[in-house]
Amino acid sequence: MSDIRIATAEDQVLLDKEAKYCSYGDTVHYIEPPRIFSRCEGSYVWDTEDQAYLDLQMWYSAVNFGYANPRLNNALKQQIDTLPQIASQYLHKGKIELSEMIAVDAKKKFGLDGRVHFNVGGSQSIEDSLKVVRNASNGKSLMFAFEGGYHGRTLGASSITSSYRYRRRYGHFGERAQFIPFPYHFRGPKGMTKEEYGSHCVKQFARLFETEYNGVWDPKVGSSEYAAFYVEPIQGTGGYVIPPMNFYRELKQVLDQHGILMVSDEIQMGFYRTGKLWSIEHFDVQPDVIVFGKALTNGLNPLGGIWAREELINPKIFPPGSTHSTFASNPLGTAVGLEMFKMTSEVDYGAMVMAKGKYFLEGLQDLQKRFPIIGDVDGLGLALRCEICAADGFTPDKATLDYMVEEGMKGDMIVDGQKLGLILDVGGYYKNVITLAPSLEISYPEIDLGLKLLEQLLVRATKR
Ligand SMILES: Cc1ncc(COP(=O)(O)O)c(C=O)c1O
Repeated sequence: MSDIRIATAEDQVLLDKEAKYCSYGDTVHYIEPPRIFSRCEGSYVWDTEDQAYLDLQMWYSAVNFGYANPRLNNALKQQIDTLPQIASQYLHKGKIELSEMIAVDAKKKFGLDGRVHFNVGGSQSIEDSLKVVRNASNGKSLMFAFEGGYHGRTLGASSITSSYRYRRRYGHFGERAQFIPFPYHFRGPKGMTKEEYGSHCVKQFARLFETEYNGVWDPKVGSSEYAAFYVEPIQGTGGYVIPPMNFYRELKQVLDQHGILMVSDEIQMGFYRTGKLWSIEHFDVQPDVIVFGKALTNGLNPLGGIWAREELINPKIFPPGSTHSTFASNPLGTAVGLEMFKMTSEVDYGAMVMAKGKYFLEGLQDLQKRFPIIGDVDGLGLALRCEICAADGFTPDKATLDYMVEEGMKGDMIVDGQKLGLILDVGGYYKNVITLAPSLEISYPEIDLGLKLLEQLLVRATKR
């Protein structure tokens, strides 16, 4: 264990100002003193003392294509030099071509016509999707969502996010979702395979529709009280939980039978995080709405948006001005998004991510064999999880993971003569899961380095 790190005099001046002038409502300081960063490139960020940290969370998966990706940065610079600003009521080429890319791709993959609609940020795009599904179901305002699900912290988005913590102080501005158990096999009942547990969860959900007395279905008119089911195909904040491959197919059958739409929240798992453009593609179902944000612009611009089936979003059903933000479809964001699509279509991006993910997961499995406090590891593409537990390999141990995160942020580990820090993100129902979201451009030597740094943290944690 190394000593607590002291802020430099210069950083301390900034931290004092932060304490006086900044609201803490929009952030959380997970470590004390918080580190201040000054530059970033590839898989690394550097603090004000020029200490490098390998980042294995990449701005919660907003920077899938590496910090300061030269090609995407150039697209932004070019757009700044041509059409950096234009009001959203006017058209520009980037918006139209990016919409076309997403809609044509969806038609190819899901066989569905649809349209694309932009807004700023993930939560706001979730809000827009709520309008789309409420509108399409004649104003039904009730939603299903998953236990462990996270869809953002604006008022509508937090009503379908599982944590009461995000609603507690503010009262209800709309009905909160009915939260349904997610097939989290590692913590599920014993004696079922992953697939059996997936089917079991679907059956439990389907039970709700067996009789009107289960509270969600009127069999006399064949109508559900619920408009849509919000899913994160792989849970993000919930701890990168990967459900069984049969799960969504079986769930979607129940939804289709009862006229309930499926909204796939791809804000964190989209844009190749799991080796596919959309993570729902792994599960052989047709979503009704897709919501995206984060890595669309590699974190260079807060552009987000939705794709929805034509029947739900055509201008007759969802008329002009149904939603609006001054910065929606801003040309800087659409230029980067378009370049990202071009870049990822030029090579087999999915295959590359799957191969790196497999390699990384094998390294985690090796660590799991050597460190009993790793209860579970899993991964799909480069969305990887490592669950930190007590010595029994099961009881969640948040305190140990918090310790590891703090140690990583000290920036004092030595690998092959290089002094480094490690940036990790914490997720999970018990906040004991390392949710690993490395750059998709990470090199194999950098994966090895990440594993060595994780190993050092595990050694520190077990010796503590
Ligand atoms: C799955 C998911 N949905 C929605 C959001 C909210 O997006 P934003 O933070 O851009 O508002 C997030 C953010 O982490 C997310 O992971």
